[in-house]
Amino acid sequence: MKVGIIGSGGREHAICHALSKSNKINKIYCFPGNAGTESFAENINIDITDFKEIKDYVLDNKIDLIIVGPEKPLVEGIVDYLEKYKIKVFGPSKLASQLEGSKIFTKKLCEKYKIPTASFGIFNSSNKANLFLDKCTYPIVVKADGLAAGKGVYICENKIKATQAVNEIFGGKFGEAKEVLVEEFLDGEEMSFFIISDGKTFRTFGTAQDHKRVHEGDKGKNTGGMGAYSPSRLESNELNKKILSKIIVPTLKGLESINTNFKGFLYAGLMIINNEPFLIEYNVRMGDPECQTILPKLKSDFGDIIISSVNTKLDKAIIEWYDQKSLCIVLCSKGYPDQYQNNVEIKNLKRIFLEQNEFIFHAGTIAKNYKIFSNGGRVLNFVIRSNDLKKSRNKVIELINDLNWNNGFFRKDIGYKVIN
Ligand code: AMP
Ligand code: GLY
Repeated sequence: MKVGIIGSGGREHAICHALSKSNKINKIYCFPGNAGTESFAENINIDITDFKEIKDYVLDNKIDLIIVGPEKPLVEGIVDYLEKYKIKVFGPSKLASQLEGSKIFTKKLCEKYKIPTASFGIFNSSNKANLFLDKCTYPIVVKADGLAAGKGVYICENKIKATQAVNEIFGGKFGEAKEVLVEEFLDGEEMSFFIISDGKTFRTFGTAQDHKRVHEGDKGKNTGGMGAYSPSRLESNELNKKILSKIIVPTLKGLESINTNFKGFLYAGLMIINNEPFLIEYNVRMGDPECQTILPKLKSDFGDIIISSVNTKLDKAIIEWYDQKSLCIVLCSKGYPDQYQNNVEIKNLKRIFLEQNEFIFHAGTIAKNYKIFSNGGRVLNFVIRSNDLKKSRNKVIELINDLNWNNGFFRKDIGYKVIN
């Protein structure tokens, strides 16, 4: 079978790597991929927002199945578009992708189905929002409704900051805004919880804890994710049951009530407070770096799982995991998440020796004339699967130090809540 993957990050490299071990798959394409995906896949340089060009390539090359990595094409409806041409796609429809594409859509669903989440207000003008902000207790959270590449969320310590946030959002910082979401600040511990669904059946697909802030001790600006470990230290059978019955199942029912269903990976970003789950947000895809942290723990054939899913036979798929833990540290370009330099050569990569349980997944990299250069803020993911997160972390740090890339920086404290 020929499979195409859409995306170019660490998540997509990890997906390519997992598919390359599948008995069911003999050719992988990556649109557009990175220097890492090149070892398993043919990289195709097509803009991932150009659905027509992707469709033409898929049909011309008789690609049997497309897997969509990132949220943007999903929210813009790539699945509906490709399915019109009878192309098999793993990923949710445009309507179901509203779970990530509109925070207000999700909040209304939570309200209707009594899904635990931060209490909230939706305001259609800055005047109305500001009247509400006068009466709030702080901190409070102000959010833009649509996709904002992780930047549309403001945790505000006081009214001045909150008003600023509201003004920025209505000022169009994240595109035209008709409404703003203001919500209660939840004080707990975050957990990323994943399921895979074929629209009829769903199966759990691991948990992780991501470290989103740029500096050690979870300080500084939000990023796409500086590293993660899996499973989350909070995971237990009891909590899993609560997450499924209070959050996941009512969400899937809510989608049914609007005549759609969910196909693909669904990622619930949760806040756990006194062992009770609250939904912070949904993402309609695997997380990044959670994907590269979780997939190395998968023992079963990943290709088979995805194929079962697009054929609505997920109930029959074998999904087994190594009884081990996994830890990922992201090596970033200096300056990320603000300004950083691209096209800095990464010289020593070929010299790094990896054991069987050790992985390097590329993110922002590009190959030119047999050399590898940086091409983004998050550059490389170092992942180790083992029984001991502390040893894994020490070894990852050793590997990154061996690489000795002079334009890089990384957090040395990934997993500190469970390691120390
Ligand atoms: P999001 O883009 O919705 O994932 O939000 C980014 C980050 O903001 C989350 O990972 C949380 O750390 C934080 N956050 C969002 N909403 C809340 C909330 N209601 N209470 C506390 N923290 C929040
Ligand atoms: N790691 C956070 C995300 O993928 O959105």
